[in-house]
Amino acid sequence: MRILVVGATGTIGRAVVAALSASNEVISASLRSTTVKVDIADPASIQRMYRSVGRLNAVVCAAGQAKFAPLAQLSDADFRFCLDNKLMGQVNLVRFGFEHVEDGGSFTLTTGILAQAPMPGSAAISLVNAGVEGFTRAAALEAPRKIRVNAVSPPWVTETLQALKMDTS
Ligand SMILES: NC(=O)c1ccc[n+]([C@@H]2O[C@H](COP(=O)([O-])OP(=O)(O)OC[C@H]3O[C@@H](n4cnc5c(N)ncnc54)[C@H](OP(=O)(O)O)[C@@H]3O)[C@@H](O)[C@H]2O)c1
Repeated sequence: MRILVVGATGTIGRAVVAALSASNEVISASLRSTTVKVDIADPASIQRMYRSVGRLNAVVCAAGQAKFAPLAQLSDADFRFCLDNKLMGQVNLVRFGFEHVEDGGSFTLTTGILAQAPMPGSAAISLVNAGVEGFTRAAALEAPRKIRVNAVSPPWVTETLQALKMDTS
């Protein structure tokens, strides 16, 4: 299959690329670090990326920034950033991607444990994760040509906990 991985250089994206590369043609995209560049917060950038990569069998998104901070400190701009990036970025990957994906293809979006198991500081992330999950359920009903739309919800990843100096046990 020809699989586009957005966020291919991240902690999760690198593992996805490694797992898929043995038996698929993987096209890696990221904000700065790959030949194919995309800013998912910019709808025009997503459209340019799809035009440049050609026909696809699957799209995986392991990108999506959102801000972790106490609710009282989250500004309007912080919420806007999270909505434009992790939520609408992934929504637009699906909306603009349908016409570039073959019959029976798939989209796999990334939500996260903080949708279902919030913690202090996760209000903006929990918001956009829940949005991704709701969108995924509804978009899957309207996807054309047997295309599937799914979301995966990773738990905390060990490498991320280590980077944040959090308990990994
Ligand atoms: N890590 C965890 O423990 C964990 C747990 C649950 C959910 N998640 C979710 O999983 C996803 C990936 O997490 P991660 O920890 O692997 O992230 P990460 O290590 O920070 O990697 C982010 C990846 O996304 C790319 N990226 C950043 N902003 C982008 C943008 N505006 N447009 C396109 N690409 C962009 C980065 O590209 P560059 O390298 O070019 O900057 C990089 O490839 C996120 O949605 C995160 O919320 C992560």
